[in-house]
Amino acid sequence: MPARRLLIVGNWKMNGLTRSLAEARKLSGMISSRSNFVDVALCPPATLLISMATELRADSIAVGAQDCHSEVSGAHTGDVSAQMIADTGATLVILGHSERRAHHSETDLDVAAKVSAALDAGLLPVVCVGESEAQRNAGDTMEVIESQVARSIPKNVGDRAFAIAYEPMWAIGTGRTPTPDEIAGIHAQIRKVLLRDVAPGGWVVPILYGGSVNANNAAQFLSLPEVGGALVGGASLRAEDFYGIIGAANEACLRNAG
Ligand code: PGA
Repeated sequence: MPARRLLIVGNWKMNGLTRSLAEARKLSGMISSRSNFVDVALCPPATLLISMATELRADSIAVGAQDCHSEVSGAHTGDVSAQMIADTGATLVILGHSERRAHHSETDLDVAAKVSAALDAGLLPVVCVGESEAQRNAGDTMEVIESQVARSIPKNVGDRAFAIAYEPMWAIGTGRTPTPDEIAGIHAQIRKVLLRDVAPGGWVVPILYGGSVNANNAAQFLSLPEVGGALVGGASLRAEDFYGIIGAANEACLRNAG
C-alpha cells in the first residue's frame, strides 16, 4: 500500500509581524532536517506572503493566504485577488473560514465564487466548513455540514485539486474537540457528499480536521483513515509546537505504511 500523505496547514490569522519570519525559518530548518510524508503549509497575514514565499521557496514549506476576492481585479478597496496571491509565490488559500463567515458575512455562494477564482489562479483552495455550538446541540451537525460542502464548492470544479477542512466552530481556540469517533463519522459523511454531489474525483480530496489541534492531541486525529491532515491555528504560531504536530502526522503515515 503506498504511504498516505497528510497535509498540515498553519493558520496564523491576524498574528505575525515581520519578526515572526524567524519562527517560519526555525520551522523550515527543523523540517528539512528529516524526510517525511507530510506536506506543510503556513498561512501568514497577507503582508508576509511575499517574504515568506520567497524565503521558503527552496524548503519543504508551502505558503498560503487566508482569504481572497472572487474577482480578478477592479474597484475593491482593501481586497486581494487570487491571482495577486499566486503572484507572491503562495500556492494555497484558506477559504470560508468560520471567522470570515461570521465576521464578514460570507455565504456559501461567496465562498464558492472565491474557490472558483482560486482554482483559476492555480491555487489550492482549503475550504472550511463547520457547525456552531447551537447547531450541534440541536442535532443539526450533519445537515449543516452537508449543505456547506455541497454549496461552497463551485459546480465547475471538475478534477481540479482542492481540500476541505472540517472545523467545528465551538472547537476553534477553545481547547475543546469532538471525539475521534465523531470526527471519523463527519469526515465519512463529507466524503459521501463530495462523491455524490460535488466532484466525481472526490476520493482524492484531503479532508483536514481543525479546531484546537495541538502536539498532544494531534496523533489521535491524524491516525483516523478519513483524516487527511490538520488546519492549525494557535499551535502553528510557535515552531516547536507546530513541529510536534508535523511529527505526529509523520508517525501516523509511517504506521500506515508499515
Ligand atoms: P485553533 O484554530 O487551532 O486555534 O483552534 C483553528 C482555526 O481556526 O483554523
